Amino acid sequence: MYQPLHLKYRPKKLQELVGQDTIKTTLTNAITSSQIARAYLFTGPRGTGKTSTARILAKSLNCLNSKKPTATPCGECSSCKTIDSSSSLDVTEIDAASHNGVDDARELIEHSNFAPAMSRYRIWILDECHQLSTSAQNALLKCLEEPPAHVVFILCTTEVHKVLPTIISRCQTFNFRALSVDAIVGQLHKISSAESIAIAPEAMRELARICDGGLRDALQLLSQLSLLNSEITLTQVAEVSGSISEQDSIALLKAIHSGDTLSVLQSSRTLINSGKSPKLILSSLLTVMRDLLVVKSTRHSQNLIAGSVGYSQLRSIASTLDFETIDAACAQLQKSEVQLRTSTNAAIWLEVCLLNLMRKSDRDRAVKETRLPATSQSKVSDKFDKNHQKIEVDSPDFETTWAQVVAAAKPANRALLNRAKIAELSADSCVLAVEKKYANKFQTHLASVQRIVTKALGRSVTVTVKQQKELAA
Ligand SMILES: Nc1ncnc2c1ncn2[C@@H]1O[C@H](COP(=O)(O)OP(=O)(O)O)[C@@H](O)[C@H]1O
Ligand SMILES: [Mg+2]
Ligand SMILES: [Zn+2]
Repeated sequence: MYQPLHLKYRPKKLQELVGQDTIKTTLTNAITSSQIARAYLFTGPRGTGKTSTARILAKSLNCLNSKKPTATPCGECSSCKTIDSSSSLDVTEIDAASHNGVDDARELIEHSNFAPAMSRYRIWILDECHQLSTSAQNALLKCLEEPPAHVVFILCTTEVHKVLPTIISRCQTFNFRALSVDAIVGQLHKISSAESIAIAPEAMRELARICDGGLRDALQLLSQLSLLNSEITLTQVAEVSGSISEQDSIALLKAIHSGDTLSVLQSSRTLINSGKSPKLILSSLLTVMRDLLVVKSTRHSQNLIAGSVGYSQLRSIASTLDFETIDAACAQLQKSEVQLRTSTNAAIWLEVCLLNLMRKSDRDRAVKETRLPATSQSKVSDKFDKNHQKIEVDSPDFETTWAQVVAAAKPANRALLNRAKIAELSADSCVLAVEKKYANKFQTHLASVQRIVTKALGRSVTVTVKQQKELAA
């Protein structure tokens, strides 16, 4: 019989519980010293082990192969077995979401008066107990105040703030923590090996990262991905989870940083067309920017990364940006996130936001580059400018563009400018091919030429000059 992974690998003993060390120790000690509370309250995010622990505790209290409560229930006796299969007469699991009325609570209280059928305790596991109506909670409270000696309540909830304080104060509370990425990776590793599921290490880490500390979601996604019948990759994880992949995040970052409007718009359109919401794109970009900030400001930040881009990639990107640029981008993205939420056309807002971001980083870089020596300039842009097209000297586009530049210049300068052609043009640099005998003149007036080109193109452009012969070679 097929069993989904998250149910197949439900912990059956406290030792099998991943993380939650304090809870394991406290419960073990309480059970071995027979200090059993009347009511327990398990709180914490979903998929962290509350229901599993409630069942383990029930088995520990009722195991028939021990004369008293035991921290190591046998798992074999009829009590243990029926608890595992949710068919025990003495242990009742109630889904409070569907039994939330006061009548349900009254019925439960009435049943509590009966002695257990075959084991030591009559145990009620009230899952998602915050869903009980206030009147039901109040009815339950009476029973919690003076429960029959053989009754133990185990209340579980993801939203403890919705539970009446009077109920909470009657219970011994255990706070389940969201599991760390490492803890989840460990469990994914164990289970994928046991099930012979091939999964790339970076895909495993991504899977662990996106499920917000809950193992159930991680295992459900692993189940789903294992049906693909090939090694699970990072991209597949991103697709199934709906998150944005490392590759896509990097492409978007590079497009923004290069100042290439077209590729920025293309990157965001591609993401939207593949079903990602503008809000998701924005927030995932914000997360990556935040990570860049972290990487930029602290040395050992490997474990602080929250976004989809890996540490080494972040390091290399961060090395080409300064702190202020990243910081400003974060601030702007944060502002835009608010606007995006209230906007009726979120896709357009996203584009506007990305373009704004681009101009900002572009501007900042332009300022920075005028301060940098020529060699480091090219290093900075080489890393990011892979996307820039390099078109041949005689490309008609370049001709038109140059004609526009010349036309925009003062008449006195036009004669000289006409001696040049554009050889290469990118968002922030322009190589001019100049006839040999005018090359020196261009060099001496390079600053003015640069001003003219920048003004005409409406963006900050670094101009370099090459002799035409050189280019032909
Ligand atoms: N701490 C944990 N250790 C091991 N497995 C866990 C843990 N938390 C959750 N799981 C996995 O997720 C599934 C659901 O866990 P469950 O106990 O129902 O979570 P909760 O009740 O907190 O939402 C389990 O069957 C198990 O496979
Ligand atoms: Mg649960
Ligand atoms: Zn047993």
